Formats: sequence, C-alpha cells, structure tokens
Amino acid sequence: MLGARGGWQALRRCSSLPRAVRLRVREALGAREPADEVKVQGWVRSVRAQKEVLFLHINDGSSLENLQVVADPSLENRDLTFGSAVEVEGKLVKSPHRMQNMELKAETIRVVGPCDTWLFPLKMKERHPLEYVRQFPHLRCRNNTLGSLLRIRSEATAAIHSFFQDNGYVHIHTPIITSNDCEGAGELFQIEASNEAKESAEKTYFFNVPAFLTVSGQLHLEVMAGAFTHVFTFGPTFRAENSQSRRHLAEFYMVEAELSFTENLQDVTQVIEDLVKTATSTVLSRCPRDVELFHKYVAPAQKTKDRLEQMLKNKFVTISYNEAVEILKQASQTFTFKPEWGCDLQTEHEKYLVKHCGEVPLFVINYPYDLKPFYMRDNEDGPQRTVAAVDLLVPGIGELCGGSLREERLPFLESRLQRLGLADTYQWYLDLRKFGSVPHGGFGMGFERYLQYILGVDNIKDVIPFPRFSHSCLL
Ligand code: 4AD
Ligand code: MG
Repeated sequence: MLGARGGWQALRRCSSLPRAVRLRVREALGAREPADEVKVQGWVRSVRAQKEVLFLHINDGSSLENLQVVADPSLENRDLTFGSAVEVEGKLVKSPHRMQNMELKAETIRVVGPCDTWLFPLKMKERHPLEYVRQFPHLRCRNNTLGSLLRIRSEATAAIHSFFQDNGYVHIHTPIITSNDCEGAGELFQIEASNEAKESAEKTYFFNVPAFLTVSGQLHLEVMAGAFTHVFTFGPTFRAENSQSRRHLAEFYMVEAELSFTENLQDVTQVIEDLVKTATSTVLSRCPRDVELFHKYVAPAQKTKDRLEQMLKNKFVTISYNEAVEILKQASQTFTFKPEWGCDLQTEHEKYLVKHCGEVPLFVINYPYDLKPFYMRDNEDGPQRTVAAVDLLVPGIGELCGGSLREERLPFLESRLQRLGLADTYQWYLDLRKFGSVPHGGFGMGFERYLQYILGVDNIKDVIPFPRFSHSCLL
C-alpha cells in the first residue's frame, strides 16, 4: 500500500492536479515545516547575483516582508529584474537567516512579465517619499508604504464592520445618488446625464428632480432607525469642498451609525469611543509590521505609537462648546480666527484644544444652535441656544467624528424646517416623527481621517488607494 506521501505523488502523476502547491508569500514565510514542490508567484523586489548563488526577494502583496528565493546562478536571466513578475517553483526550506523563518530554494524561475527598470519610476531598495510616489497613482501600490497602507485599510474596513456586526447593528446600503442635502452646507456634486442621454430623454433632470452624490447617509439611516434599533453604513461620500487641504477629499469614505431609544448624548459618544478603540486594537494586532512602518518611517516625530497606546488605555475627555470657547479665549496663543461664542471652531482651535487637554481624543459637545444642521436636537437651554451635537477631536487631525441627538419632536422639527423653507422638501422626514418617533442619535466618522490619525499621516491623499483628481492622471 502507498503511504500518504506516495499516494499523493501517484495521484499527481495520473491526474490533472497542478504539480506544485501554490503558496502566498505570507503563507510561505509563516510555514512551520519545509515542503517540496512549492510554487510562489509575485513581483521581484530585489535581485542579487553572486558567483555561487542568486538571491531574489519576491513580494505578492500578502505581507510587507518579502520571501527570499535562493537559486543557482544558471537560473539568472536578462528579464529577471526588479519589478518583473515571476513564478518560482522549488523547495521551501528553513532559512539560515535569523530574520526570516523560511526561504525558497528555486528549481525553476519563469519570468511572467518583464519590467523595464530604466523606465519604471520605482527603483530598487529606495525609500521613495510619499510626494514622489503620489505622481504615479497607477504604480504606487507596488511601493512598500502604499502596500502597507492598503493592507491596513482593508483590515480597518473589516474591523469596523465586525465592530458593528458584533454589537448587533444591521448594515444598510444607503444610496449614493440622492436628492437630499443632509448637512445643508451646499457642498454638493450634482448628477446630470451626459448630453447624449439628455437629448434622448428630453428632460431637464434625469430623475425629474435635482439629484446629487450623497454627502452623508444619515437621513437614510434615520429611516431605518424607525424599524431597527441599531444600524450602520460605511460607504463613499462626496463633498464639493476644497480638496487641496490635508484633511479634505472630494470623495471619501464615511462610517455612520444610528441608534434608537437613546437617553442622552453619552449613548452616542460611548459608541464612538468603543468603535475607535476596538478598530484600532484590531488593526494593531492584525498588521503590526505594516503599522510599524508608518510609525517608524512615515511619522516618527509625531510619537503616534505612544499616543495610540495612551488613547487605548484612557477614557476620552469631554468638554462643552462653552468651555472650549473659554479655554481658547484664555489661550496665550494668537489665532488667525478670533475665538468667539457662536463661531465655528477652526482647525487651529481644534488642535489647540486637543493639546490643552493633553493630546488625547476630546469630545466637544453642545454647539450653538445656529451653527448646526436642522436635524440636531434643541437642548432648550435658552431660546434656540445650543443643540445636542458632538465632535470628536483627535491629535494631529482635529475633527474625526461628527454626530448628535436628532430632533425627534415633531413640533420642534417642523418649525425649524419651516423657518429654513425646507418643510415641503422634508415631508417624508417629518413623517418619521409622526409614526412611532423615538429619541435617537448617531454619528459619522471620516475613514481617511481615522487612518491619518492611527498612522500619523499628514496628507489625506496618502491614505487613499488612488489620489483622485489631484494630478493630470485622473484614474
Ligand atoms: O461632521 P460631518 O459633516 O457629519 C455628518 O455628515 C453627519 N451627517 C454624520 C452623522 O451624524 N451620521 O462628517 C462626518 C465626518 C467628519 O467628522 C470628518 O471626519 C469626515 O466625516 N469628513 C471628511 N473627510 C474627508 N474629506 C472631507 N471633505 C470630509 N468631510 C467630512
Ligand atoms: Mg462635522
């Protein structure tokens, strides 16, 4: 009778099974046991030919670490260069190097796609600055830093989804094309059919009414919060505002949650705090090497790592808008925008407040009524003086989250909408207050700003897969 191994090889000989077992670089590096007949596919990150031996480093995006391939110099070939795509077959063996567990002893090396290293803008063993790689949106994912960023983005997305799913929230796909301007700030991109489609439809508006790319899924989540006590959405969001800043994008991702039967604003701030802490510890534990690259090489001066450790250990601080204005007024620093009650907090103010409170995440609550959108709940602390709003401010960034209790009382909401001339537009929203209205609240967190915060990245364009609309190459 054949042993397990003999049986497997016999099966391979007489069937169409592939000869070698295909492994990802991450799997190969983490393997416990040596293995014969292994195949690894990826891109060459370095080639070093010595008299006796040829060394390659292969990366396939599954980890920051490369797999070392050791080969006979006879396997060298003109097309085997930095950046080329290769398929290597051989034996996975224990590596004699202290820094790595396994290496691949190559038996065959096939260049699948050559790479002209003269023309290729990335160079072997160079730590290209983020500004440099930003010029090549179509190639920059092959750079270590962007590779790490994209893996972290993927893990952070999964961690955020898990946080909500684990806490009983229902995920809702809120629309991207909508007719509402949730924030009322007029930062809308309007949708129009192309000229061709317009002529055939002979319509002014494709949908008969003006339609926009969403600025927030909140109002749609509020609809769902009338049937599900906990809902969330996590999708693309669009704002026609200055995308030249280091914290604004025209297209970004927002995580939003809505909770019914809230008792006070603390119900909302507690979820924000739990979300930020849980997602961050998951990312730190799932991709430590990728995060380390950012903390060590991209933002070393910012002490991002220490800050995150402090953040995870301590409770977030809360102050009121009134207190915030008092702190700013007493500051020895002179601000470009003079702090006054009733004025919005500027980035310089937000940064000062965070510093003043010890470089920890800071909730600022109860903002002036007139500063905030129509849906926020009146605190009734004077005639239309403040609303139950909250912003979470974090070190290095400023505002990371914005949320509030929603005005669930029909008369309050109706009169506010009437004063704004929006009562007709928002009849459907008023309906939500007519049929089983409950106190509720929610928040939105900018996903890119979250990544900037945990990684210490200064420019928001460096935490997105494609630096959209900032260069001539509009991918
Ligand atoms: O504070 P905002 O405008 O809040 C809302 O849209 C609420 N409707 C959310 C809700 O309660 N469901 O936006 C939420 C967050 C901001 O705190 C910020 O982090 C991010 O979204 N954000 C942006 N991020 C990148 N680029 C932009 N242009 C952004 N505008 C807002
Ligand atoms: Mg805001």
